Amino acid sequence: MLRLRFGIAVLAGGMLFAGGCSKEPVTVNASIVIPEGEKDPAVWGKKYPHHYDSYLKNKERTQGYSKYRNDNEDRIGPWPFQFILWDGWGMGVEYNEPNGHIDMLRDQIAVDPSRKKAGGVCLTCKSPYVPELKEKLGVDYFRKPYEEIRAQIPEKHREMGLVCIDCHDPKTQELRLSRWTLKEALRAIGKEEGKITRQEMRSLVCAQCHVTYSISKDAEGKSTYVKFPWAKGQWGNISIEAVIKQIKDKEEHLLEWKHKPTDQKLGHIRHPEFELFSAPGSVHWAAGVACADCHMPYERVGQSKISSHRWQSPLRGNMKPCLQCHNQSQEWLKQQVLNIQDRTNHMFTKAGYAVARAALTIEQAIKTPGVDAKALAKAKDIYHEAYLRNTWIGAENSMGFHNPPEAMRVLGDALDQGRQAEIIAREAILKAKGTPKEFDMAAIDAVVKERYASKDGKTGFRANVPKKAALLGDR
Ligand code: HEC
Ligand code: HEC
Ligand code: HEC
Ligand code: HEC
Repeated sequence: MLRLRFGIAVLAGGMLFAGGCSKEPVTVNASIVIPEGEKDPAVWGKKYPHHYDSYLKNKERTQGYSKYRNDNEDRIGPWPFQFILWDGWGMGVEYNEPNGHIDMLRDQIAVDPSRKKAGGVCLTCKSPYVPELKEKLGVDYFRKPYEEIRAQIPEKHREMGLVCIDCHDPKTQELRLSRWTLKEALRAIGKEEGKITRQEMRSLVCAQCHVTYSISKDAEGKSTYVKFPWAKGQWGNISIEAVIKQIKDKEEHLLEWKHKPTDQKLGHIRHPEFELFSAPGSVHWAAGVACADCHMPYERVGQSKISSHRWQSPLRGNMKPCLQCHNQSQEWLKQQVLNIQDRTNHMFTKAGYAVARAALTIEQAIKTPGVDAKALAKAKDIYHEAYLRNTWIGAENSMGFHNPPEAMRVLGDALDQGRQAEIIAREAILKAKGTPKEFDMAAIDAVVKERYASKDGKTGFRANVPKKAALLGDR
């Protein structure tokens, strides 16, 4: 421990607080001026060739670096209970592990159409043209069909993903927020834009997209807006409880889809990396560490030192980002990540099957004649809470690493609420003289295989996808 503290005191001090001073100047061609609004990264690359080279590496796809998050792998099949949780919309049809930033729009174009039914709104994180399109089109930007809105992007950039202008001011090269979604969300929690520190910006540029968002709907189910449901949280504590309160607030219209087994409209949670990382329990956030410290480490290129612009898992970079602050071995650091992830996966699996069991029991209760309507409504409501909590950790991309104790707390609650919902539904079935079915994990897997088997070999449940859901103990 002393060794760790010593290493951190010396190295993080230099990195976090002296910032750029410890770096040698970046070779820049000062005569090149990047025009305001310039989207093409190749133009920026003329001025910053090393950064552009680093950026172009985001095209590479690799396998085998991570136990849970390899590029492009199927992300539903390995945890079969998710098919039951997402029965009723695109999430249960096709959902893959993230790839590099350059491909993000191309990946979205290729994904099953059921994932883009919400409309143009789906482009919000995927194209630098979005802030302009939203200004120009107003509510039509959100509700009109995805391809109709994408066709408004100039043709040569219709497949272009993350680019320099999403995070930088072309004139000063300072970090800058380009999305109204984050600006509005920060305002809602009282974080003033003028008081954001440089170190906070090194996380907030990522929080433009690596957060959960909700799409509001009109009476016909058409999209009207997209927002981060943070208003009931606060800076440093955007908890799942705060997010759920806003999602369930009827005035907000954030119930986006209908879950078939429990026959009710639900909200949804997407990749809350920033929220989990910045919540209480996060040792790294408390120590002032930013997303960029672990995902954009400094690297030497010729005579200069740059922040890597190849955004990737620290595991793929052989733990090198961690060595900026830690002086343990790379093997030790990797083992710490795996220990945390295996334990999170254990609880995610346990909780996930409990929530799926609740769904199947509620489904049976709905079909049981004479079942008590009040009890059923209560079971359905607790199911909604359990589902959102389980997804808070399952959709987050670090498998618990960004904040291990918070991940455990949330999954513990999901497990408890899954059980509560199941018990209420069971008792309602018994009271109506029915016989509740028993669902252990194998029985749930059997239901999944039967109901959600792939029809095209690409989407839905495929038997050849390796299972990652796993318990460390035997029950
Ligand atoms: C404009 C939206 C946006 C911003 C800003 C953004 N990301 Fe991403 N990021 C994405 C999307 C979308 C994906 C998934 C892309 C895919 O699968 O095609 C992704 C994927 C990733 C991945 C996985 C890469 C891989 O190859 O597995 C990492 C790591 C990552 N982002 C980190 C960051 C960090 C750190 C920041 C801030 C410095 C950041 N992102 C800013 C949208 C964004
Ligand atoms: C997802 C956000 C994001 C995108 C997109 C992005 N950068 Fe950066 N960039 C950063 C962050 C974070 C830093 C570190 C800034 C700091 O420490 O103040 C940085 C730093 C820089 C620096 C300052 C020197 C250094 O290495 O720290 C330059 C120059 C730069 N980026 C150029 C580019 C270019 C050129 C592109 C497009 C090819 C680009 N960036 C795309 C987030 C981004
Ligand atoms: C202390 C280091 C650290 C910090 C700080 C950190 N991460 Fe991570 N992140 C990790 C590790 C470790 C993983 C797990 C990677 C794996 O399993 O391959 C990860 C995983 C990810 C992934 C999935 C990568 C993949 O290959 O699919 C994304 C996306 C991500 N982090 C984004 C962020 C964002 C956004 C922030 C800030 C809000 C952040 N991270 C802060 C260490 C960090
Ligand atoms: C910018 C500096 C920095 C980076 C980069 C960084 N860490 Fe840390 N890490 C810290 C600090 C500071 C602490 C708190 C240490 C303390 O108080 O003893 C810490 C604590 C930890 C702990 C102990 C957590 C606990 O709950 O006590 C682990 C494990 C850890 N880091 C792993 C990693 C891994 C793995 C990476 C790379 C993916 C990484 N760190 C990257 C600064 C950093």
